[in-house]
Amino acid sequence: MLKYRSLFSELKVGKKTLKNRICLCATVTNFAQNNKITEPWRNFLLERARGGAAMLVTEVIAVDPEAIAQASTITGFDPTNEAGFKQIADDVHKEGAVIIGQLWHPGRQQLWHPTKSPIGVSNLPDPYSGTVPHVMETEEVLRVAESYINTAKRLSDCGFDGVELHGAHGYLIMQFLSPASNNREDMFGGDLESRTLFVRKIAEGIREKCGQEFIVGLKMPADEGVPGGVCPDEAVRITTLLSKTGYFDYFAYGQGNFSLSLETHVPDMYFDQGAFIELHKKMRAVSGNVPVMALGRIGEPALANRIIEEGFGDLVGMSRALITDPAWPEKARLGNPRDIRPCVYDNFSWGEVHLGKPLAEHHNAFVGQVNEAFRLPEPANFSKRVIVVGGGVSGLEAAWVAAAKGHGVTLFSSASELGGGLLLESKLPGRQEMRRIIEHQIFSGEKYGVEYVLNYKVSARDVVDFGSDVVLLATGANHRVPGDLERGVKVLSAREYVIQAEKLDGGTAVLVDEDGTAATYGVADLMAQNFKNVILLTSRPRVAASVNHCSAIGVFRRLYGANIQIQPAQQVISFIDKKVTVMNPYNAIEDKISDVDLLVYSTPRISNDELADELDGTLVMKIGDCRSPRNLMTAIQNGHAIADSL
Ligand SMILES: Cc1cc2nc3c(=O)[nH]c(=O)nc-3n(C[C@H](O)[C@H](O)[C@H](O)COP(=O)(O)O)c2cc1C
Ligand code: SF4
Repeated sequence: MLKYRSLFSELKVGKKTLKNRICLCATVTNFAQNNKITEPWRNFLLERARGGAAMLVTEVIAVDPEAIAQASTITGFDPTNEAGFKQIADDVHKEGAVIIGQLWHPGRQQLWHPTKSPIGVSNLPDPYSGTVPHVMETEEVLRVAESYINTAKRLSDCGFDGVELHGAHGYLIMQFLSPASNNREDMFGGDLESRTLFVRKIAEGIREKCGQEFIVGLKMPADEGVPGGVCPDEAVRITTLLSKTGYFDYFAYGQGNFSLSLETHVPDMYFDQGAFIELHKKMRAVSGNVPVMALGRIGEPALANRIIEEGFGDLVGMSRALITDPAWPEKARLGNPRDIRPCVYDNFSWGEVHLGKPLAEHHNAFVGQVNEAFRLPEPANFSKRVIVVGGGVSGLEAAWVAAAKGHGVTLFSSASELGGGLLLESKLPGRQEMRRIIEHQIFSGEKYGVEYVLNYKVSARDVVDFGSDVVLLATGANHRVPGDLERGVKVLSAREYVIQAEKLDGGTAVLVDEDGTAATYGVADLMAQNFKNVILLTSRPRVAASVNHCSAIGVFRRLYGANIQIQPAQQVISFIDKKVTVMNPYNAIEDKISDVDLLVYSTPRISNDELADELDGTLVMKIGDCRSPRNLMTAIQNGHAIADSL
């Protein structure tokens, strides 16, 4: 019997019947090139169809030349991508899924770089980039509405099942819907009827041109999160009005706009699971016959099932959980949730695409590649004896991959618990979710027969005695001591501090941040619990440079919320007699901080690779931070790739 019966029940959306309630929400991949569909772009969608999602929404498709944000934005307003659209529609249909194109115009919201001529609803600036757009005349609004309709028709002719109008996250349609951005005095501004006219005209036009069979969905905010914007009550009024038009086949709700409320658009691990399901329920109560898609940090099959069972929504939308594991639906259908590679909601993937890079993810190295959904390491021709030294994420990944290939694998860790640096990070306030990556790696290793030996510091002699064919050295890296400081009771690396934090408290503590990652600000959060004053110093001009823009909003909210003093452009020189001397690297002016009880440093790291020198003659391969200390993704994926090559 199905474990998640409600989640795997059918649903009618418009005239189509979906095989289950799981939908891939729109996900920018930046896999397109020169505004054209590529193999990885197509594979990304196809693999999620193969993985069992019933409905797939493409990433944003530009409806107008002025909507093109960058070379990886797919154009839908011209014939360029027709062959690609047809192919993906055919491929997805063969997998028994439904494909929906997301129609997009950013309006004033210029994320990456201003388009040639940003257009907008009013002369109010975009809260993210400050762009003040050209205010559209009424005729121009009608022309842009027409461009949505024509793009929908193109997709319909190419075999798409429908379109989703992107009216969330502060883009053009939402700029019309929201009283915070729409101060127009023509027929498109003013009361509810007028603010919804733009989207109604588009939907009506699509219905006329594409017929009743064609799905028309709308993604809109249930809470824009800004004063005077689309608050939940306003979203109820909009939903009520739009649901009565008969133009819409589903509503999806994504929160926030590109102000500080953007944090709610991709709620990270600091938010509760299913953070917005109560809002979805509120919208469902007024949407009449129109199904509602619940979305936002829904990653557990049990929660997804409960959302359907208890009527929070009719569909569950997932982006990040399906980036991590395209086979999430099939694994859930088989009742094996532990097999799902978990999303930890740190927003690294979101950060990558918003830097204009191709979509990338910590522990799914194969995003967008052929056979991604059910890919397993290829069996090796000969079984080898493999020793992995080190139980951090790189060692754990290498261990399960090597074992899955048929090698005999023993992993030695000098610690009493597996997980290395990431395990420590998971002990920081709010960051416990990170542990799930480790748990999944251990689970995979157990499945393929990895032998784990804990509390054992491996020597060169042990390796020789063990008689291995290959040693994978995954002994990690340590932070470098900054300036002229010496490690000691009052000078600790971030990792040493996390281990000892319970025993340490006092007046003033300094955190030297030359790292800029979210883990460092987790350390700051922990220090703020134990010290009266925490001062965060960095020699760089700003902090949190390595945190994606969305999660950085939360980082600053917590740092300022805890009264942590942030001092950029301050390089630590010395720490003598409770005085920390700092220097501004731009003007060389020195300053002192008095009465410092503790200094913690989070700095670029140095590899722990001593064992490699002692193991002359054995085949030793350094992996992860031991090879080159970089970020979580590279540590995991390097371990994966090297083990896969054995
Ligand atoms: C990498 C990435 C790209 C996204 N691209 C889009 C997009 O093209 N259009 C859109 O409406 N939302 C986009 N979103 C937001 C998602 O559709 C979704 O609303 C949000 O991630 C919350 O769902 P989740 O918790 O399942 O990730 C993107 C999210 C991520 C992580
Ligand atoms: S990078 Fe993080 S947030 Fe993005 S899909 Fe992977 S685990 Fe989830």
